[in-house]
Amino acid sequence: MAERSSTATAILPVNAKNIGKLKIRPKSDDLLDDIEIDLDETSSDAQHLLRAAEELRTSNVPIAFPTETVYGLGADATRSNAVQGIYHAKQRPSDNPLIVHFASLDQLRALLRPGMSIGDGPSINATNDPIPSIYRPLIKQFWPGPLTIILPNPTGSPLAPEVTAGLSTFGARMPAHLLALALIKLTHVPVAAPSANASTKPSPTAAEHVHHDLDRRIRTIIDGGPCSVGVESTVVDGLSEPPTILRPGGISIEQLRSCPGWENVQMGYKNAAETGSQPRAPGMKYRHYSPKAPVILYEVGRSPPANQEMVPFLGTNQRLGMVRTKRWKVNHRHEDRAVTLEAGNVNGTELSNRNRDNRHMTGVTALIAALDATPEPRKAMQSMSLNAQETTFLVLDINIGPSTDSIARGIFAALRELDREDVDAILVEGIDDIEDSVAAAVMNRIRKASEIKLSS
Ligand code: TXA
Ligand code: MG
Repeated sequence: MAERSSTATAILPVNAKNIGKLKIRPKSDDLLDDIEIDLDETSSDAQHLLRAAEELRTSNVPIAFPTETVYGLGADATRSNAVQGIYHAKQRPSDNPLIVHFASLDQLRALLRPGMSIGDGPSINATNDPIPSIYRPLIKQFWPGPLTIILPNPTGSPLAPEVTAGLSTFGARMPAHLLALALIKLTHVPVAAPSANASTKPSPTAAEHVHHDLDRRIRTIIDGGPCSVGVESTVVDGLSEPPTILRPGGISIEQLRSCPGWENVQMGYKNAAETGSQPRAPGMKYRHYSPKAPVILYEVGRSPPANQEMVPFLGTNQRLGMVRTKRWKVNHRHEDRAVTLEAGNVNGTELSNRNRDNRHMTGVTALIAALDATPEPRKAMQSMSLNAQETTFLVLDINIGPSTDSIARGIFAALRELDREDVDAILVEGIDDIEDSVAAAVMNRIRKASEIKLSS
């Protein structure tokens, strides 16, 4: 039986700049730099991380921590009781497997070769690497980063069976977030972590989103500020022929196709959604990303609804939410009555302005540079009273555009924010899902969240 946390959940702020010295250990013949952390134990930031690492090692209640995509709910992937704690806290169906997070390639290799100490063997090269060669170009380009690769779970695997939910494979990822990497390093175990939302809810991109869903269900949230990507990792299966994208995410199909062996990568998720066949990423079949209020998706190219068209979506609260992205303007006829709220009033909005293109070029060094990025207030909410045939109602309007990156960072926060305002329904302006890098991931999430889809 998993432990339950009956006390209020602590939100522990941690600024990665204050945790100590970071050293990058270049490995000439390897794929990637490794980081070493010389922890400054006098700082409260480091103490918070140490406390979280200790809980991860010993407790069966998972802890929440930031990654560059969304907040994760982590547990020691090698202990069944700890992994069960994740399913319990999230109320997640137990047939939906978890992604395992690593802080170095050696840590992943050790798992793939149970019983063999990596340091003792011959040095790793392309021919003796236990990581299948198909993944080498992806790892080189995109790790650490928003990419999850599917690997065979070896005989004698140290992974708890709950991680894989009965599959013969597991998902592995190295997150591009210093706090996530530091936490895994301090824990010395691979960390299984789904997104830290309650099952079915939008993924959390700020610590307060986690708190809202999991207060008293977990003990600790590491608060590292808002997530810079905002949608989850791309999940790819390179064991199949041709290789397949099981879930679109922070790395786009064009980026994958630029890698040797991946020129012909297929979209496994779209066909599954269209034909209703058994999806290959087990998580894709469940209701997902959904706020309380029904979401109405206006596919790209469709004009914003006239006041009259909004009336059928009204409920007892007489208020609607609207999420604008690239093209929709505020309803000008009512602009004089609109009240602009300060961006600071909107929960979880101060998002970092990290340059996505920098993220993978220099691996860990880019992470450190990213810490200096300035926060950018991104989202403003307006409310306007509209009159449609004697009905007066309120529209709370959030603009998360116009760039695809800002839409990705803001979509889950916007859905959550409008839910807090008790709107009767949320109308979302869709974007072209082939337009640029993460647009497909954003539209995949919105389509899953929406109950009504209005085509253009
Ligand atoms: O960005 C992310 O990936 C975040 C952060 C926390 O790292 N994690 C995340 O985990 O989104 P989760 O559990 O919400 O989504 C994991 C997805 C699910 O769709 C699951 O079905 C799929 O990965 N998955 C995990 N293991 C798999 C496997 N062996 N084969 C196929 N799909 C798998
Ligand atoms: Mg999730």
